[in-house]
This record gives sequence, structure tokens and C-alpha cells, in this order.
Amino acid sequence: MSNLPPGMDPIATLDRAIADAPDKVAGASSLEDLERVESSLLGSESPVGQVRRSMGQLDDDLKPKVGAKLNEASSRIGHLMTTRRAELEAVEEERRLRDEAIDVTLESVRLPSGTLHLVQQTIDEICDIFVGLGYQVVGGPEAELAYYNFDALNTPATHPSRWEQDTMYLDWGAPEDELLLRTHTSPVQARWMENNEPPVYVVVPGRCYRKDTIDATHLPVFYQIEGLAVDENIQFSDLKGTLLHFAREFFGPQSEVRLRPHFFPFTEPSAELDVTCFNCDGGVPGCRVCGGAGWLELLGCGMVDPFVLETAGYDPEKVSGFAFGLGPERVAMARHGIDSLRHFIDNDIRFLSQFS
Ligand code: DAH
Repeated sequence: MSNLPPGMDPIATLDRAIADAPDKVAGASSLEDLERVESSLLGSESPVGQVRRSMGQLDDDLKPKVGAKLNEASSRIGHLMTTRRAELEAVEEERRLRDEAIDVTLESVRLPSGTLHLVQQTIDEICDIFVGLGYQVVGGPEAELAYYNFDALNTPATHPSRWEQDTMYLDWGAPEDELLLRTHTSPVQARWMENNEPPVYVVVPGRCYRKDTIDATHLPVFYQIEGLAVDENIQFSDLKGTLLHFAREFFGPQSEVRLRPHFFPFTEPSAELDVTCFNCDGGVPGCRVCGGAGWLELLGCGMVDPFVLETAGYDPEKVSGFAFGLGPERVAMARHGIDSLRHFIDNDIRFLSQFS
């Protein structure tokens, strides 16, 4: 049975479809609209679709003619569709570009941006100077075994400096289990040497803890940067040259350094390093930075005690080394003329934003 309604002429039907198509296609105003028009023109329920479905029932002599017409209708209407689709896509694209455009010249709401804390900036800058000399930046635990904090650094239980640095113990009892908040970054010297073969060139920034009451020059929680160099033939002159380089990079090329004898259990000999005042260049009475002394106290240092090398498993006959420890807060205070450590922990935005 034919799918064409009775009395419907396939050729005329297709001609009408071809004739009507341009207006209908042009009338589609969106891509969705065009899809509806397409199914009304070429879909299975459309006149063209009905003719297509009826092909099987047509008389044999009609088939070629209707078939050719059907192809013509499909291809002409298909062509109209393709052209119109491209037009509508272009319109759509243009609309999207317009709707989604961002006006980069528009004044935006500016949220205040934070900065690194001055102490962190100072730590980064100091570490960078040593990285420039080939040092590696490494870390260690803040909850430290008493063994590393003291014993491995030539500070046995009977040593007086151990009592001065009694701090928060987290575990207490058998000597090998004693755990405390580390009082300096020096324990990382021992830890690093235990696990790494020489040569060693490391700097260790980190937080330290002591039972100090907060005042202008003390904080119970503060930072240190430890330095350690161990290699064949390291001499005291290497220590002085390295620290002079550091002082000149950090405080300016005119800086000079001097070493004053001192004592640390884990270095022998030990010294404190002073740098010439970068503000008055050496002794202007009443200088706001050095008070007229001409020198700023910078750090503790020395040649690594052979006991420390040996305890960590190194042979002090084969290698030697130097170490130093400095407080970035104090260095930052010296450089910026900051008069109290309290400023670093007060969280006063007026202070902090001066260093952005
Ligand atoms: N650990 C020492 C302190 O907290 C600082 C120090 C001094 C570290 C001399 C060193 C050093 O490595 O050689 O006071």
C-alpha cells in the first residue's frame, strides 16, 4: 500500500517542497528553529519523507523519475540547510563573543594583596645568597630528640648550656626517648651528616623554641638559619671568606667583618661574627642602627668540632668543616632599624605593609 495520501502526485509534491524550501529555511531564526524546519522539510513525516517511503509501491515506470526528483529535492534542500546553518552559526558565535566579552579596561574591585612576612623575606634572601654559592636548603624536625639537640653536638647532660636551653619537653624519661621543641637549628647538622656523605654544603632555615619571656630582644618562638660546610681541607679562612661574601651581599659591598672569640660546644674554635654598620659605615656617635659602636653582631660560627664529625660517622682526619647559626629576625632588625622583636608577632598591618 502506498504511503502517499490518495490522489497525491509525488512529482508535484516534491516540486512544491523544493519551491517552498527557500522561504522556510530563510525564516529559521536560530539553530534550534532550523532543526525544526529541517525535519518539516526532510523528516520522515514531511512530504519528501512520505514520497521516500512510498517509493517501493510506485509503478516501475514512475520510479526513476520520482527517484531523480527525490534526489534533487534532498540535495537542494540539504544545500539550503547547510548554507543557512553556517549563517546562523556565525550569528550565534558573534552573539557569544559579544555576551561573554570581558572588558579588560574596566576598573575592577582591587582586593588588597598580602605579602610574605619580613622574616620570611629575610630567610629567603639569605638562603638565596648561599644557594648562589652552591649550598642546598634543607630542613629538620621541630620536635627534636634531645640526642640531636644536645648530645650529638657535644653537649652532654651535664653541660651547663643544656640547662640554659631547657625548653618544652614533649617526652621525658629514658634519655634516648627525650623529645623537645628544638632550641636551635644546629641538630640538623648531625642529622644531615648521619644520612649524607661529604662534601656537605647546606643551609637550614627553621623555627626554634626557648623558655624566654617576650621582650624587645627575645621571643620564645623564633627562627634560625644554620649553615654547614664539610669537605676535604676546609679551613678557618674558608669560614671567614664565606661569611664576608654573605655580609657584602646582604648589607652592601662596603661591608667588613670581624671575628671575636666565643664558645659553642659544637665548634672549635668558635667565634662571633660582627659586620660593619651599613648605616654609619663604622662609628658615627649615636647612629640609630649601631648606637655608635660601628659594628653589628651578626652570628655565631666556628670550625665543626671533631667530636661532632665523628659522632655523625665522618672521619675528622679526612674531612673538616665550618658551621654558623644566625637569627633572621635580628638580621632584619639590624637592616631596617627595627627596635623590637615584638613587631614581628604583633600582626599590625601598619608595620607589616611597610615591607611589601
Ligand atoms: N646554635 C647556636 C645558638 O643557637 C648558634 C650557632 C653558633 C650555630 C655557632 C652554629 C655555630 O652552627 O657554629 O646559639
